[in-house]
Amino acid sequence: MPTTKDASRATPITGQKAHEIQQYGHVVQMPLALGDKERRTSCENLNQVLADSITLRDMYKKHHWQVTGPTFLQLHELFDKHAGEQTALIDSIAERVQLLGGVSIAMAPDVAETTSIPRPPKGREEAPVQISRLLQAHEIILLEARSMAKQAADSGDDGTNDLLVSDVIRLNEMQVWFVSQHVVDVPLVHAGNGHTT
Ligand SMILES: [Fe+2]
Repeated sequence: MPTTKDASRATPITGQKAHEIQQYGHVVQMPLALGDKERRTSCENLNQVLADSITLRDMYKKHHWQVTGPTFLQLHELFDKHAGEQTALIDSIAERVQLLGGVSIAMAPDVAETTSIPRPPKGREEAPVQISRLLQAHEIILLEARSMAKQAADSGDDGTNDLLVSDVIRLNEMQVWFVSQHVVDVPLVHAGNGHTT
């Protein structure tokens, strides 16, 4: 540790500590022409969607790594694409919490405490089970996002309504379509009715 006397100004000052500047759950004033109560409600709702979206993104990565079977490559690539899209969405949600004057949830233990999505096992599961878990997680997010979007619209927070409708709901609906079509039980070679013409 350099002393004041011999320290160069170019020496990094490490190990610094201080009290946090804003507690989680506290919403500071922002000149947005939106009331405190409305911004606080939007921050709480967005943090719930954020925790669930981070959990879903992590679940996509888990399944991307652990998937196996005849559809390995398709699902391996699809799960990674969806994880990437959820990562971009997560950033938009977190930054909206901040711009509304709130504090966005961020770290895994806090996400785990907050999320409504059931925890999957540490071990590997079959692809149809992975897909069922993903579809359940999407539906949890869609259900809450629809009611939160209505609440945001009613309170005059059009930006939050737009983010929830245009980004959260639209992306989750699209991903549900792509994932759900892998668990439709149609024949690969012989048509289901047994006819060849
Ligand atoms: Fe990868």
